[in-house]
Amino acid sequence: AVSFKGVKNLLTLRDFSTPQILQLIRRSLELKQQLTAERKGANIELAQPLAGKTLGMIFTKRSTRTRVSAETGWAYFGGHPMFLGKEDIQIGGGEPLKDTAVVVSSMVDALLARVGAHEEIEIIAENSTVPVINALTAKYHPLQGLADVMTLYETSFKDPLTTVDRFGLPLPLLPPMKIAWVGDANNIINSLLVTLPRLGPVHLSVATPKGYNCDPDVVNFAIGEATGGDQNGTVEFVKDPRAAVKDSDIIITDTWVSMGQESEKAKRLQDFAGYQITEKMAKEGGAKPDWKFMHCLPRKQEEVDDEVFYNPKRSIVFQEAENRKYTVMAVYEMLMLWAKQ
Ligand code: CP
Ligand code: NVA
Repeated sequence: AVSFKGVKNLLTLRDFSTPQILQLIRRSLELKQQLTAERKGANIELAQPLAGKTLGMIFTKRSTRTRVSAETGWAYFGGHPMFLGKEDIQIGGGEPLKDTAVVVSSMVDALLARVGAHEEIEIIAENSTVPVINALTAKYHPLQGLADVMTLYETSFKDPLTTVDRFGLPLPLLPPMKIAWVGDANNIINSLLVTLPRLGPVHLSVATPKGYNCDPDVVNFAIGEATGGDQNGTVEFVKDPRAAVKDSDIIITDTWVSMGQESEKAKRLQDFAGYQITEKMAKEGGAKPDWKFMHCLPRKQEEVDDEVFYNPKRSIVFQEAENRKYTVMAVYEMLMLWAKQ
């Protein structure tokens, strides 16, 4: 079995090895099977490993998917999730994150936090006595990264759970594929950059406009893993969206205006002209005929039109969103159970 001994937090997937990431995805796929069978009426005896345990959820930004998946997932395991929005707790009145982390962690069993700069989640982790889960910072969104990887497994294998890996990994590596990112240089692509090059012969082509470049620290890590790793992943950075989508199996994007960047909206809409994902641009760029579309949501029309977004043959965005639930549940098991074994 893959060891998680000594793992305390999930701040970025960069801190996790390939076998550890694959073990989390494997468990997410199993949980999906179980919860789906239950919804269909199967009578499964619930283990409630988190009975009596409380999750503190500090959010200084809005959320739909992260909040709902995190709360329902924790409750499924018998625990009590406690949502602490910034207007409801003293953070809104200026109490420092550090003091908040010390106090709240003295009363709960784990913390999950959505904050601004990545340093903020690091401050919470440094001052918390319980495990901390990053629920989005400006630099990384590891819970989304896991759901995206899970969705890629579902798309790439008929049944990933029964496909035996020759190398003894929890799941086989991803098959050869090209993934195009067309959009902003943000927390979502950063999370993919620190994972995908390590998960198989995946070619990740990243198109961002002039003046928008991924964090150099993330780029260096991705290039290092891609060139030095043995999974044969590759990464490239381009400015022309059509170059990125050429021969792609998957096209991914996200909003052009992330939370906290609202004042830059007008400039960004101009700078991202030509980056909207449409059937026409994918065709002109030479994407594979059966390319699939992914997006972490929430989505705006400027980055992808309705024809692509609502086409069930193209778009796997709602499957990707649902997978947020199973992946956060696997993270809970990792931090609350596996890491302690
Ligand atoms: N993808 C995602 O994190 O969505 P929310 O902002 O709704 O949580
Ligand atoms: N890049 C977006 C993701 C939202 C889930 C943001 O940070 O606002």
